[in-house]
Formats: sequence, structure tokens, C-alpha cells
Amino acid sequence: MLYEKHCSNCHQQDGQGLRRLYPPLAKSDFLKNNFNPFICTMKYGTSGSIVVNGVEFNKLMPGVPSLTELELAELATYITNSWGEQGGIVTIEQVSQALSGCAPQ
Ligand code: HEC
Repeated sequence: MLYEKHCSNCHQQDGQGLRRLYPPLAKSDFLKNNFNPFICTMKYGTSGSIVVNGVEFNKLMPGVPSLTELELAELATYITNSWGEQGGIVTIEQVSQALSGCAPQ
């Protein structure tokens, strides 16, 4: 439900993103290699050039500052266990730790 509400408009229900506009979350190498920034991005958004699975994106993603640590953990768990992935459970402690490293952008 959280994913549908906050993310699927852009990243799509199947996590494939939308052409060169919105990067994929499914099988995203960027996401796999950047766990803490991933958590920060959901809450605070991001911008600037990034490369996901070999394709460059450079667009603003608005964050959802109202997301709680529990909701971020649920979203992260959902995303890392969907579309053929099995990333295990993301805990509130992991989210907390990730958040302590990011400032609002
Ligand atoms: C308004 C459209 C929009 C919404 C809504 C949105 N994103 Fe994004 N997202 C983007 C764009 C655009 C980028 C690329 C940003 C850049 O170019 O720096 C991005 C980048 C990302 C990335 C890093 C790149 C990748 O594909 O691995 C992650 C992870 C991500 N978003 C997750 C989420 C999650 C989770 C949500 C819901 C909480 C969400 N996004 C909501 C547009 C959106």
C-alpha cells in the first residue's frame, strides 16, 4: 500500500521505472550498492546525475518526509523482496542508522 501510494506513480507497479524518465527499482544495481542513500532518498528525495543499470538519469525525485522509520523499513523490505529479489527483512534499526547519516537535501 505504501509503495502504491508513494512510489508506483513513477517507478511503476512492476518496479521497472519509465523509460529514461524514472529509473527501475527492480534489479537496480544502484539500489543494491547504496543501501543507506536508498533509505535517505525515500524520505528526503534526491537529484543530480545517477547511473542505474548502465542508464543515466538526472531528474528530481521528491521525498516523502512524513514517512516514519517503520514505514521506511516496510517500504525497503517490500522493494528488496519484490520482482524476483530476496533481500531479507529491513529492520527499523537499519533505517535509523541510515537516517542518521543523511540530512534533508
Ligand atoms: C515523482 C516521481 C517519483 C516518485 C513518486 C518516487 N521516485 Fe524514486 N526516483 C525518481 C527519479 C526521477 C529518480 C532519479 C533521481 C536522479 O536522477 O538523481 C529516482 C531515484 C530513485 C532511486 C535510486 C535509483 C534506483 O532506481 O535505484 C530509488 C532507490 C528510488 N528512487 C526509490 C523510490 C521509492 C522507494 C519511492 C517511494 C517512497 C520513490 N522512489 C518515489 C522519481 C520518483
